[in-house]
Formats: sequence, structure tokens, C-alpha cells
Amino acid sequence: MTLAETVNGATMTPPAEGSGRAGVPYEELIRPSQVHGSLYTDPAVFADELQRIWYRTWVYVGHVSEIAKPNDYVRKNIGPQDVVMTRSADGEVHLLLNRCAHRGNLVCEADSGNSSSFRCPYHGWTYRNTGEMLGYPLVQGYGGKGKLDLGLGRVPRVEVYQGFVFGSFAPDGPTLAEHLGPAAGEIDRLVRLSPEGEIEVTAGWLKHRARANWKLLAENETDGYHPQFVHSSIFSVAQSGIGALYSDKSTAVTRALGNGHSENDLRPEFRRIGQPMGWFGTTEQKLPDYVGKMRALHGPAAEEILIEGAPHVMIFPNLFIAEIQMFAIQPLAANLTVQHVTAVQLKGAPDMNRRMLQQCVGSVGPAGLLLADDTEMYERNQAGVAELRPEWLDVRRGNHREYIDERGLTVGGATDETGMRGFWEHYKKLMTEERA
Ligand code: FES
Ligand SMILES: [Fe+2]
Repeated sequence: MTLAETVNGATMTPPAEGSGRAGVPYEELIRPSQVHGSLYTDPAVFADELQRIWYRTWVYVGHVSEIAKPNDYVRKNIGPQDVVMTRSADGEVHLLLNRCAHRGNLVCEADSGNSSSFRCPYHGWTYRNTGEMLGYPLVQGYGGKGKLDLGLGRVPRVEVYQGFVFGSFAPDGPTLAEHLGPAAGEIDRLVRLSPEGEIEVTAGWLKHRARANWKLLAENETDGYHPQFVHSSIFSVAQSGIGALYSDKSTAVTRALGNGHSENDLRPEFRRIGQPMGWFGTTEQKLPDYVGKMRALHGPAAEEILIEGAPHVMIFPNLFIAEIQMFAIQPLAANLTVQHVTAVQLKGAPDMNRRMLQQCVGSVGPAGLLLADDTEMYERNQAGVAELRPEWLDVRRGNHREYIDERGLTVGGATDETGMRGFWEHYKKLMTEERA
């Protein structure tokens, strides 16, 4: 079976092997400290990215808490693909393509629900929530019952890490653990903030459309250079200390985690300040229930957890965990991206969850002050890179002061472009390597 057949049945033209390399010269367009502007605007690049990144590597799709009960389902996506994430009666998680095997109609209409089967509205074909066909009306037209060997398309590989569901359209390739590498430890850091060791994605998702290329969003997520300029208004209104974390005086670092993942590691600053819940902009007195539960669970080790707080990590290509909230990046065209956002909820911490939700709404809600600033920059950036000169974007910041840490990872200063360089190194590999 070819990748294309796996992706989308017989209607999708299989990509010519090596077509990306023959068409777009990625080797020349990505330099160690420069990237070419056309990578953000060229529809041919976007088409190549779908085949070589979005329909191939591990992509974050959803969280098991969104389909907590048997037969729960929720509509998700992998890039432009409409994917239904289901939990079958036996508890297994499935990723099904929302396309009827008869004439291609959308099978699942509701955004979420609970059902063991789906019925296509066009001619009434039905499917189990595992993708197998259940039946079809007027069976004589097919020579009798059970004569059709058809079903819903499936994302062939589904893996779950700490409740985070990832899918890969490639039947073979690196495992999810290999893909995540050290970034898995950042997910671990998030879930250990829950008194029950689990996060929940139950706050609902907001969708923000940006008329910009998805890579501008992904690169920005761990860009520590922009916050004090782009977000100065919210930092001053909220009397926030976040701006200082991303300054030349900050001891925080930017780290490339391999495979295109990156983080702003703010722990050095939080440790220096040494205040439990300081990472959350508050004190332990404001959250006595939560802090009490964590101390009862972890003993003396709770102090480190409460001081170090949550990660700020971009997991290639589309999952961004920003301390209290999560973002899923969905590319739709070279110049169109949807950013899905939700508040992280910690299982067993209702007092904390209320505040996380409030902070999330204030920063990335419909009238939130943080993401509106970023989105303005994404769209200005997209308009700017369409200009013809200069052709290149510069990503050299901090090159001279990078070092390799004890884990072999590249580390830069709080405001350096170390994460972007890691992103582009991996991107170049995916866009140019020979495929099996
Ligand atoms: S298209 Fe779905 S039953 Fe005909
Ligand atoms: Fe920002």
C-alpha cells in the first residue's frame, strides 16, 4: 500500500518520489542562519510539506480525556484532513478519516458525541467506530449482504503518550518515543503538576484563524526575543514578570530538543526566585488546597515541582504547551493557519483549574490580550515575506553564545533563535531525505 492510498483512498495522486527535491531546492533555501522567504509563501512548498511532514511524521491530534468514555468521539484534524478520534468499546483509541467509502461524503457531522457507529447521510452506509463497515441499505444492488470489502480510512499509526494522542500517516518509521526524544520529559513535567499525575483537556477549544504560514507560528512559540516588545501592553496591565524572563539579564535558556522540538527553559529564573507557585504568577497562600495536595503526595520533592512549574515547549510540528495552555497548529494553505487553544486542566486540582482557565481566557480568549498580539505579528510577517527584497530571513541570533549541554542538546540565551535553528535543521532533513 502506498502512503497516498493510506492517506486518502484512491482519489489522491501519489506524490512522485523525490518531487520535492526536483521542484523546490530546499538544500539551497535553508542555510545554517538564513531561510528563504519563499518557504512561507510558495504553494508548491506547502504541497510538499503535506506529503513530507503532515502526512508522514507524528502529529499531535488530541487527548484521551476528550474521549473519556467508551464510544466517545471527537472531530480533530491532521493538517487539512478531517479526522475523527474515537474510543471503541474495548477502550482503544482510533483515528478515522471522515470520508465515506461509497461516494466520499463526510460521515461524521457532530463535533463530538457518543456512538458506537456512524451513518453516512447520503445513502445510509454505516460504520463501526473502529472504521469497519457495518452495513448498507438495499443490499441486492451489491449482489447481497456482506459483499463489500470497504471501510473508513484510518490513520495507520496511533500512539498515546501521557494521554496525548499522536497519529502518523506513515505505516512505518520512527516510533513516537523516538520522535519525541527529550521533549517527552517536558510532557512529563506538565503532568506531574497534577496531584493525580494526569492532565485533562476538558475546557473546550477556541479556534483562531491567522492569515499566515504555519511555520511562522511554530517558530514564534519559543522565540524569546519578541515578548517584551509584542506583549508589553499585557505585561504592564497585568503587572506581569514574564517580560523580565525574556531579557538580556535573564538566566533562562532556549534549548533545541532535537527533531525540530524546542523550549524556553525558564526554570533557572524560577529557581533563582525560589517561590512556590511563582511560575504561575502567584503565591502558595492563594492555592492552599492544591499546594497541600502536592506536598502530601510528593513530600520534600514537592518544593522543586512547585517552584519549577510547567514547561514552555514546542513539539514539532504542531503541539505547543505554554505553561497553562495548549495550542494545536493546523495548516490549511501556505498563507492560512488555524491555531486551536485550550486551558490545561490538572486532574484533582479544581482550585488551580479555575485560575488556569481564567488566565487562559485573559491571554488567548476571544478578547485575550496575548494571542491577539502574536496573531497581528503573524499576519504582518506573512505580508512582509511576500515582498521581494531582501529575500532571506535571518535566524543567527545567539549563534556565538550557544553551547552543548550534558545531554548533547544545543542551548542558547533566553532571547536567542536556537529553537528556530533546530526547527529548520529538522525541516530540511524531512524535506530532502530519501524515503523508504
Ligand atoms: S456517500 Fe456515503 S453512503 Fe453514499
Ligand atoms: Fe508571543
